[in-house]
Amino acid sequence: MVRSGLRYAVTFAALVSIGAAAAMSASAGPNKGNAAAGKAIFTTKCVACHKADGSGGVKLTGNPTPSWKDAKRMADPKFNDDYLRDCITNGKVKSGMVAWGKTGQIKPQQIEDLIAHIRTFAKK
Ligand code: HEC
Repeated sequence: MVRSGLRYAVTFAALVSIGAAAAMSASAGPNKGNAAAGKAIFTTKCVACHKADGSGGVKLTGNPTPSWKDAKRMADPKFNDDYLRDCITNGKVKSGMVAWGKTGQIKPQQIEDLIAHIRTFAKK
C-alpha cells in the first residue's frame, strides 16, 4: 500500500514538472506565430477595439487601446512579446480587454499568430 502510494506520488510529480516545462516553453520569449493566420483572427475578434490598422484609441472603461503603429512604443522592452502574450492571455479586465486565453476563446498557437500580426503594424 505505502509503496504503491509512493510510486503514484513520484509519477505525479514527474508529470507535473513535464507540464510546467511545456507551458514555459510555449509562453515566453519572441513569438513563434504566423502573421497571416493572426490577421484572420484579428479581423473577426479584435478590430472593434484595436482598429484594422492597429492604431487603437478606443476607450471603454479605463486605458484606451494603444497604438501599435507607434514604432518607438513597440520597441520599448516594456511592451515585448511576453507582455503582449500576457495581455491576450489574462486580459486587462479594468480597461475592457478580454482574457482571451484564460477563458479558452483563443488557443496558445493563435495567441502567437496574433502577436506576429500585431508586430506588423509598426513595420514600414
Ligand atoms: C472590447 C474591446 C477590446 C477587444 C475586442 C480587444 N481588445 Fe485588446 N485591449 C483593449 C483595451 C481597452 C486595451 C488596453 C488595456 C490597458 O492597457 O489597460 C487592450 C490591450 C491589448 C493588448 C496590450 C497591448 C499593448 O501594446 O499595450 C493586447 C496585446 C491586446 N489588447 C490584444 C488583443 C487581441 C489580440 C484581441 C482580439 C483577439 C483584442 N485585444 C480584442 C480592448 C479590447
